[in-house]
Amino acid sequence: MKVTIFGSGYVGLVTGACLADVGNQVVCVDIDQGKIDRLNAGEIPIFEPGLDAVVARNREAGRLKFTTDVAQGVAHGLFQFIAVGTPPDEDGSADMQYVLAVARSVGEHMNEYRIIIDKSTVPVGTADRVKDEVTRALAERGVAIDFDVVSNPEFLKEGAAIEDFMRPDRIIIGTDNPRTTELLRLLYEPFNRQHDRLIAMDIRSAELTKYAANAMLATKISFMNELANLAERFGADIEHVRLGIGSDPRIGYHFIYPGAGYGGSCFPKDVTALAHSARKAGFPALLLEAVEAVNARQKQVLFEKISAHYGDSLAGRTVALWGLSFKPNTDDMREAPSRVLMEALWEAGAKVRAYDPQASEETHRIYGDRPDLVLCESSAEALEGADCLVLVTEWREFRSPDFDAIKAALKAPVIFDGRNVYDPDFVKRFGFTYYGIGRGDRVGPL
Ligand SMILES: NC(=O)c1ccc[n+]([C@@H]2O[C@H](COP(=O)([O-])OP(=O)(O)OC[C@H]3O[C@@H](n4cnc5c(N)ncnc54)[C@H](O)[C@@H]3O)[C@@H](O)[C@H]2O)c1
Repeated sequence: MKVTIFGSGYVGLVTGACLADVGNQVVCVDIDQGKIDRLNAGEIPIFEPGLDAVVARNREAGRLKFTTDVAQGVAHGLFQFIAVGTPPDEDGSADMQYVLAVARSVGEHMNEYRIIIDKSTVPVGTADRVKDEVTRALAERGVAIDFDVVSNPEFLKEGAAIEDFMRPDRIIIGTDNPRTTELLRLLYEPFNRQHDRLIAMDIRSAELTKYAANAMLATKISFMNELANLAERFGADIEHVRLGIGSDPRIGYHFIYPGAGYGGSCFPKDVTALAHSARKAGFPALLLEAVEAVNARQKQVLFEKISAHYGDSLAGRTVALWGLSFKPNTDDMREAPSRVLMEALWEAGAKVRAYDPQASEETHRIYGDRPDLVLCESSAEALEGADCLVLVTEWREFRSPDFDAIKAALKAPVIFDGRNVYDPDFVKRFGFTYYGIGRGDRVGPL
């Protein structure tokens, strides 16, 4: 089948590569000439495990092409996927300008029936706006061409995106035309072989399903972070509590890890956008607003612990920071808790020596050269001469480090473990002062 994907970011590139991998002819369109040039030169502009191999083999087979030529893209695919960004606007709503620009382009160039598929995460009602935009562009041309708009939200996780696309938990198709459901069923058939994962519904329910999924996951995290903060003050260990509650199958062990707050390109903006839509609909979403507020507070927790430990000013201190990306296995720095921490440390006059297996380049792109940030080549280099170690992102290579070597490299043996990766008793045996998240280190009067 012929497929066009607008947007060659995390979602567009993975979608295009995976659809090409099962034999479809895919054209990926992006407005970023630099990105398209790199892709045509065989480079992958983002870090996503396994993506380079899938892109390379399908480019070589001639099934996956990259262009900035919108007209070529619209002429190519029966399926026109919109996978462009929907970043937060100043008021927290999702900025729809990129999605609507694609809709307009399709309307301006289409000459035969097209299925326009919203894969970006978009507020409920967006399919109607896309439909209006296409209709307007067609009217301006004085032509009447049939088209359908479908909501097909994406659920992939950065870091496991290929696996998630190839073996999805669900394929949500929101449409008002049963024929398009059948065409999309055919397109997704190769990813739907073990058992039927396709769930068809009306468009608005499909649009809301994506927000509901992310809001639920964000709620689980904020719930655990709230409990962790309580455990800390009650003299309890949230890790025991986590095991204790996870054993109930109605609760489960998934996604109930306390930490330094959630980040990334999805949870923060999607929770905010849904809360914004709720207010607009005249029904403020109290729970969602609390989820956001708890997360914003959680992103301060590591800095508060560091400040409390040193008591005096942080000016002149150097902090070794392990892990910059918002989670392991990605170079994505959007809304990363490390950014909030670094910015607070700099504000307080401290220096940061940071190491991340993938996100250093992106960090440098964001912050540029500055005297209070040293981006290191290894976890060991980050420790050299630092006052303490802060673990922010739980990359696998940080899981079982050489604590003697850490102790030798630091000025004093202090660890702030933002992901509860280390066993406090084990670490203390090496002589470290250990701070985790929700592990009884702020016990107050009860
Ligand atoms: N990243 C994720 O893990 C993830 C998961 C599920 C859903 N989503 C959603 O998918 C959407 C895309 O996210 P992403 O992380 O891939 O974004 P991204 O920022 O990585 O990529 C977006 C791309 O779209 C391009 N673009 C912008 N306007 C364009 C236009 N008019 N024509 C063609 N290309 C254009 C940009 O240049 C950029 O390359 C968002 O709505 C996001 O919420 C993201």
